Amino acid sequence: MSDDALAAAPTANVFEAAGGEPVFRELVGRFYARVAKDPVLRAVYPDEDLSGATERLTLFLIQYWGGPGTYSQQRGHPRLRMRHQPFAIGRRERDVWLGHMTAAVDSLDLTAGVKKALLDYFDAASTAMINVGGNDGRQAPD
Ligand code: HEM
Repeated sequence: MSDDALAAAPTANVFEAAGGEPVFRELVGRFYARVAKDPVLRAVYPDEDLSGATERLTLFLIQYWGGPGTYSQQRGHPRLRMRHQPFAIGRRERDVWLGHMTAAVDSLDLTAGVKKALLDYFDAASTAMINVGGNDGRQAPD
């Protein structure tokens, strides 16, 4: 998945259908509560305090799924693969990340369509973030 594909959602209605900003805040809050207790991922995240990372992922997902573009106002173009280059993400880290995100999605009361859209995206996007150990998810140069 290219950086541009990672940054542009195919549909703009998932944000509203999911329940808007409060639901994305809840999703990412639940995800990072799990990350905070996970030794595999704690070794990857540089900051002890995950509140900044929580806010960045929340704003990114809100923007990606069709909500306000606050993320890019604050951070510029997402360039997710580039922003993840400083962190060693192998298949193991990706699988653990996706496991926690899947659990967070499953813990919310979402429609089947919204749930599938989120999980399909997280599956592909997390694979695209692999940057060590081969099995690179990259499909096209960015
Ligand atoms: C595959 C496993 C992944 C790992 C191990 C990982 C790890 C990280 C780390 C260590 C950071 C820096 C924390 C910070 O912002 O302070 C980060 C930032 C971020 N990650 Fe991930 N990530 C993964 C997958 C993803 C995926 C799939 C997405 C998108 C759906 C994503 C979106 C973001 C965003 C938006 C930021 C903040 C970028 C910025 O504005 O600086 N990450 N991630």
